Amino acid sequence: MTDIRYDFGSGRSNPETFPVAELQAAAVKVIEREADALNNYPGGLGHAGLRKIMADRESRREGVTVDPDHLALTNGSMQAVTLAAETLQDAPGDGVIVEEFSYPGTLAAYRSLKLDMVGIPLDEEGMQLDALAEKLEELNAANRLPKFIYTITTYQNPTGFVMPKANRLRLIDIARRYELPIVEDNCYGDVHYEGPEEPAIYALDDDPRHIYLCSLSKILAPGLRLGYILARPPMLERLLNRRNDAGSNTLAAAIVAEFYKDGIASHTKFGNAALKIKRDLVLEGLENELADLCVWSRPVGGLFIWVRLPEDVDRKQLHELCVSRGLTYLPGVVFHYQNANVPYLRLAFGHLTQEQISNGIPLLAQCLRECRTSNEARSFEGLF
Ligand SMILES: Cc1ncc(COP(=O)(O)O)c(C=O)c1O
Repeated sequence: MTDIRYDFGSGRSNPETFPVAELQAAAVKVIEREADALNNYPGGLGHAGLRKIMADRESRREGVTVDPDHLALTNGSMQAVTLAAETLQDAPGDGVIVEEFSYPGTLAAYRSLKLDMVGIPLDEEGMQLDALAEKLEELNAANRLPKFIYTITTYQNPTGFVMPKANRLRLIDIARRYELPIVEDNCYGDVHYEGPEEPAIYALDDDPRHIYLCSLSKILAPGLRLGYILARPPMLERLLNRRNDAGSNTLAAAIVAEFYKDGIASHTKFGNAALKIKRDLVLEGLENELADLCVWSRPVGGLFIWVRLPEDVDRKQLHELCVSRGLTYLPGVVFHYQNANVPYLRLAFGHLTQEQISNGIPLLAQCLRECRTSNEARSFEGLF
């Protein structure tokens, strides 16, 4: 098997800004200081210190008050994705609205719960709301309204786009019309590079049906397995009642709470500056190598670039050729809610070195040119 030297596949954080010494020092402190808590089960909400810091993170970003007792720590935000769906679903076959391209972990969880996914097309402003309104009207008329709407509103995975505030307000309106909860997954919200930041749905609407998910995986490290779910009562109790895991890892939470005792801002600012350089390198590489053939997103945050491929590229051959030369990425098919073999690929750049990016993009371009079945000019201008 070929060694993968250029892994544009996995959406990991940046190892270069992982604070080894600071976390080591924090661990030494908290193991002694919090020995009593470590000798106990954490229960439903989890480590109070980290909950307070995360509530503060949300309050500051959104300019609203977030109660730490409305926030439950989870085993990564992936556990929160599953817990929210299990709570809102009554039976296999229930419907859920998703973006046509979405996070494969969520799609896998929904498939395994046998939720019936209804995909809504995306554009540069996220979920297309005319299409959503039309689809819900149709489902309502057929008495088949879904149980909830799942959306990644900010730095969407895989496209990187942000839903503007006006669209968020309209989404809230549409959801209210059909009394639907919105599950907002904001796990990239603080991986911000430039431009305005849009408010979260929970900050725009205090409807107690809505559920908000966030994570520490993207600002610190996925191996910590720390995420959280934010919901108002009684939805919070419904979520906690579904939980049978005795709570999330106290040691990880205590270490991270000590590390972030003055808030997340300084480490996040430093981390995002390093990530922005990598994003720019990918964009520059694509511009130099593939401007005649492909179209791609220019995200103002998050860890991914979504690339549209010409139809005349053999997508299976492209992936095999890249892997045989030591490069990988995630093909569009894994992001499609019905696994359609769409002509896209996603490039993740957070964990690669600058050198890997600078060498990897020309290699990808070379493979792509070798997998074309014609010399036709590109037949599209836009990403969608
Ligand atoms: C949109 C989205 N939600 C949730 C997750 C899960 O992240 P974690 O469980 O590490 O917090 C990811 C990871 O890539 C993601 O992209």
